[in-house]
Amino acid sequence: DWKMDSFIQTSVEQMKKTIGEKRVICALSGGVDSSVAAALVHRAVGKQLTCIFVDHGLLRKGEAEEVERVFRSQFDMNLVRVDAQARFLARLSGVTEPEQKRKIIGEEFIRVFEEEAKKIGQVDFLCQGTIYPDVVESGTGNSAVIKSHHNVGGLPKDIGFTGLVEPLRYLFKDEVRRVGAELGLPDTLVWRQPFPGPGLAIRIMGEVTADKLSILKDADAVFRDEIAKAGLDRKINQYFAVLTGIKSVGVMGDGRTYDNTIALRGVTTSDFMTADWARIPYDVLEQASSRIINEVKNVNRIVYDITSKPPATIEWE
Ligand code: XMP
Repeated sequence: DWKMDSFIQTSVEQMKKTIGEKRVICALSGGVDSSVAAALVHRAVGKQLTCIFVDHGLLRKGEAEEVERVFRSQFDMNLVRVDAQARFLARLSGVTEPEQKRKIIGEEFIRVFEEEAKKIGQVDFLCQGTIYPDVVESGTGNSAVIKSHHNVGGLPKDIGFTGLVEPLRYLFKDEVRRVGAELGLPDTLVWRQPFPGPGLAIRIMGEVTADKLSILKDADAVFRDEIAKAGLDRKINQYFAVLTGIKSVGVMGDGRTYDNTIALRGVTTSDFMTADWARIPYDVLEQASSRIINEVKNVNRIVYDITSKPPATIEWE
């Protein structure tokens, strides 16, 4: 990919000049943009970059380990992983209101990040995975009014940095993916579907607990696996499981069950402002359904969400 290759060279040269011998930190979220930005800055300044990965425990199954594997093992970056699940769950205890959950997660995220940044000592630059559409849309996005879309990238500007490093500022999403691939990031990361900053917390209706998280992670992993097996993972723009908070009666063997209902959601969209529910083939849904029932404890019913946006939103909270 010569075009992206020359972008990388120019960008690396520029960053070397700007950053010099100074130090940079980056908040890794596991998302495409922050990952590609970090990999690019790393190409320019290597160990002068430290990545802080705040693991709030609300990522999908296997994602935290993937971040660790890619950035620590493959790239050999300075990576600080903070296992903060207990802290986030404690703060979320008893909280049921969606906007309140978002607010708590956003605040706690910044708090943990700041604590870790302080431990590193003098840092001059903050690297952010801002991409061109973020620059254009900031402040005007309607969805920002409907839901407070705090992004994990949205960090405070007043924690003592001289400058921001935003190497993806002029790139569109498809270009960001091409740069990521060129830098050697794995497909799983480069083609990762969008994932909200508050993570699985807004896919568990009501209070978030460790038990509910575990059910949702397992169900979601099965659904993703079946979508990938069917070759639909790049065709459906976002797909996931939701723990609905509804319990219903079922029958298993000679026994009656009273257990959780998982909803599956899949949408096709170009801008995430409007979306259509994905026409996933029945046999794929059937396979996902029977596997979730068989493999995930405490689930006895699966439903598929056939609402478009509007009137529904993509997420359930
Ligand atoms: P909705 O549910 O508003 O979602 O139709 C539109 C897109 O935004 C994502 N989303 C979020 N992203 N923080 C984020 O970073 C949030 O609080 C949040 N809420 C929704 C959602 O996953 C979809 O891609």
